[in-house]
Amino acid sequence: RKKIILDTDPGIDDVMAIMFAEAHPEIELKAITTVFGNVSIETATHNALYLKQKYQLKADVVKGASKPLVRPPVGPTVVVHGESGFGDVEVPAKVVGEVDSRCAYQYIIDAVKAEPNEITLVAIGPLTNLALALQAEPDIVNLVKEVVVMGGAFGVNDHRGNVTPYAEANVHDDPHAADIVFSAAWPVVIIGLDVTEQSFFTGDYLDRLRDDAAEVGQFIWDVSRFYLKFYKEKVGIDACHVHDPSAIAYVIDPELFTLREGPVRVITEGPAEGMTIQKFDDRTYPNDEWSKHTPQRVGIAVKDTELLAIYRQCIIEY
Ligand code: BDR
Ligand code: CA
Repeated sequence: RKKIILDTDPGIDDVMAIMFAEAHPEIELKAITTVFGNVSIETATHNALYLKQKYQLKADVVKGASKPLVRPPVGPTVVVHGESGFGDVEVPAKVVGEVDSRCAYQYIIDAVKAEPNEITLVAIGPLTNLALALQAEPDIVNLVKEVVVMGGAFGVNDHRGNVTPYAEANVHDDPHAADIVFSAAWPVVIIGLDVTEQSFFTGDYLDRLRDDAAEVGQFIWDVSRFYLKFYKEKVGIDACHVHDPSAIAYVIDPELFTLREGPVRVITEGPAEGMTIQKFDDRTYPNDEWSKHTPQRVGIAVKDTELLAIYRQCIIEY
């Protein structure tokens, strides 16, 4: 089984991804590390603990960063994920269970040292915890199996941003952290809007999932009501994009995605703050800074029908 630490800001599509990782027989969900983003760090951690209690998850829950490295915090995206982070679904104020005593970046460092090259870090929120881990212990670049990130937008098929015309939310929430993570000498696969906006959970798909799966299907249906309303009103579609679950899908079956290789950088200030850029041609530019950076892999196409079928099957079998 593939061991993962899932770094997340739950969040509606984060729940969909967490339950995907938990349900899939080929994944061992070792830990859920939390980060600010869709909700505050307190809410993110509470929501993760709630899921652990509700579904008796074996995963440790570990509290992470409350704010970005440098930029001022953007604040929770209540319009997208609701006050609770789970749309209209209320999360009980009292949750049994405790967080790990360490902070997320220390937990990540300890975990990859304990099991060198065994653990994949999957990040589906702002990249602050991963950047802090790199800053505290740069050697972890040699101890992590792979880093899979849902974030960024590279202009493939004109996909550029969802919080500004040029920036995707997770990268925009902490562009400095994203630049550190993408520039580091470890293998990163970036599943950005270019591919996550190619797969759709339609209302009909979610209805059938609720009807055919056990309670978890109902829960996914419940949390998705608010998300579908947001997509209908603000994006103009009768479906929601498959953002965070796509990162899990990559871990399960990398063949679902076509990847493009080349170094990736992030614009950290100005009107294009949070924009992600990849150099993927062979041209040598004058004063080429780019060649110093590790080539990373960016998703440019996805087998969406297969991805949706894998998601459905494993949720039904959970
Ligand atoms: C990303 O931003 C958040 O709203 C989602 O949870 C996802 O991780 C998509 O841009
Ligand atoms: Ca997320």
